[in-house]
Amino acid sequence: MTSSHFGSVKHLIKRFIFSFLPARKDRQALEFTTLLNPKELILFNAQSRVDKKHSYRNVQKLFTLADAPLEPDIVIASALHDIGKIESGFGIFGRVFATCVAAIAGLSRVDDWSRDRSGSIKHRIAVYVQHPEIGAALLDEAESNKIAIAWARDHHKRLDESTLEPSLFATLSRADRV
Ligand SMILES: [Fe+2]
Ligand SMILES: [Fe+2]
Repeated sequence: MTSSHFGSVKHLIKRFIFSFLPARKDRQALEFTTLLNPKELILFNAQSRVDKKHSYRNVQKLFTLADAPLEPDIVIASALHDIGKIESGFGIFGRVFATCVAAIAGLSRVDDWSRDRSGSIKHRIAVYVQHPEIGAALLDEAESNKIAIAWARDHHKRLDESTLEPSLFATLSRADRV
């Protein structure tokens, strides 16, 4: 066997191994939990499996969109924007149901349901619909950064309704389209 043959085998083995390893940006995304403070980490871990996956996907997309190193505050904002959903305790079907009911009943009526008995279906729908405000309050309590709190509160708003800097709002929105 010639050395060039060994060379090509070595190259193929390397390619084979690297095909199973995440790309550099994916590895950075996988490590985002190291950026969280202890209270943020408790909140992140309280999320359902589906929401954790959504957090990870957001961060992964953010890294894909970025052409410069990302500020940790922005990565945390992207990862934790839907944290308010932990309070409703709804699974996928409950969320679809809550969204449909809210669309039919109207948001102001659903807001009134938040005064219903805690744990009742109406109360849970209201909590789910209010997840942006709830998430912002949870992040404020967790001493999270200003961008994370603002993005949790504004991520279902229009760009002109948000206090976030427009290009940052646009980037975080694009990362959330996953
Ligand atoms: Fe949301
Ligand atoms: Fe989201």
